[in-house]
Formats: sequence, C-alpha cells, structure tokens
Amino acid sequence: MQTYILLPYIKRRQIPEEFHDDDNRTPESLIEYLIHQFTQPGDTVFDPFAGLGTTLLVAEEMDRIPFGIEADKDRFEYIRSQIEFKDNIILGDSRNLDEFQLPLIDFVFTSPIFMRSDEKKNPLSGFTENGTYQDYLNQLQIIFRKLRAFLKPEAKVIVEVFNLGATSTRPGTLLAWDVGRVLSQVLDFEKEIIACWQGTDYGDSPHIYGYNHSYCLMFNSK
Ligand SMILES: C[S@@+](CC[C@H](N)C(=O)[O-])C[C@H]1O[C@@H](n2cnc3c(N)ncnc32)[C@H](O)[C@@H]1O
Repeated sequence: MQTYILLPYIKRRQIPEEFHDDDNRTPESLIEYLIHQFTQPGDTVFDPFAGLGTTLLVAEEMDRIPFGIEADKDRFEYIRSQIEFKDNIILGDSRNLDEFQLPLIDFVFTSPIFMRSDEKKNPLSGFTENGTYQDYLNQLQIIFRKLRAFLKPEAKVIVEVFNLGATSTRPGTLLAWDVGRVLSQVLDFEKEIIACWQGTDYGDSPHIYGYNHSYCLMFNSK
C-alpha cells in the first residue's frame, strides 16, 4: 500500500456561517480514501473528536454506521441536523469515553483538537481549564486507552495530526511526534500514511500550520 497520498484540499460541504472562522475540518477526500481502504459496508466508524461531523457524514454516505463524540454543543447540534443516525452522535467530553454507550468499533478516524507547547489552557476542556502541553498529551493518552475497550480485535485507529510550525512569535511544536509517542504506549503503532494536500484554502501558501501535508498515524488495538 502506498504510504503517501496526493489529495485535493477541498472541503465539499457548505457549513453554516457561524463556523466559518474556525473551520478545522478534515477534507472529505482523505476520510473517503481511508474508509475505503480499511472498512466494509456495515462497519462501525467512530470519531471521538467529531467536530463538524466529516467522519460521520462520509461514513454514512459510504454505508458504514457512524458514531461520534463532540464536546461543543453548537457543533453537536449541527452534526445531529445532518446525519441520519441521529442518536449516534453524543454530546460530551471524550475524556469520559468509558461512560458512554458505544458499540464495538471497526474503525476510528479522528483529528483531535491541537495544542501548541507554549499554551496554558487545555483545549480538551474547551479552554476552560489551565493545563500544560504535557497534561494535554497525558489526557489524550487516557482517551485512547479508554477507547481500547470498544475496539474489535481487527480494528484500526487512525489519528490525523501534524507538527505545528514555528511562527515569528511562537516556537514550533512536534505535535505529530508527541501524539505518536503517547498513543503508541496504549495502542500498537502500525505505520503512517502521509496525506499531501494539493492546493489549500490558503491559496499557494502552505497550510496554516506551515505544512502541505499531515500524518495519519495508524494503530491497532493492543
Ligand atoms: C479538529 S476538530 C475535528 C474536525 C473533524 N475532523 C471534522 O472534519 O469535522 C476537533 C474537535 O474536537 C472537539 N473537542 C475538543 N475537546 C473535546 C473533548 N474533550 N471531547 C470531545 N470533543 C472535543 C472540538 O470541539 C472540535 O470540534
């Protein structure tokens, strides 16, 4: 299997105006590619950071059964308004993943909320709690440790993440490396697939974080 893929950086779905300023969606093309590679119709597909629901919507379009958790009420309601399996999106905090009614899962695709190493508020709390970058990494690890209980033996878990380039005022953050390291302590790391974006929403400039590619880190249940 090819370990890099070239995909257009196009988000096909129109989203409500209120989300335009914080549109951190994954382009559908990447999720379609991965669902096609790693699942069969009827499989359960889960995203613990559902965002605006791209994973769930693509899964549903491809006749898979979508499940997701989203902490932001407006985003949760938007997803509910868009999917057929309305009860399969949960409003909640993935750090409590073990408390939710989830089925056994065939495939996980997710792009967690990111944190820069110099930030002081934990994004996993909706920026309401103080927390270091290390706290954030520890809590991500706990989420994926809890996830293990719901994974079918053959399930793949793919986490899309990228390193955050330095800016004129802020240091770079090796987020992809750090997430890979903490998750590989609770799941078996299998390999990475690099998604290379052709053209971005930002014209000819690189992706907002400094790159035209992202890492899809693939894990198996341990
Ligand atoms: C990068 S976005 C995901 C975008 C998604 N891949 C899409 O294409 O729509 C990350 C999402 O995680 C949500 N989030 C952050 N912390 C969370 C938590 N503790 N539990 C559940 N969702 C959380 C944020 O509200 C945000 O919508």
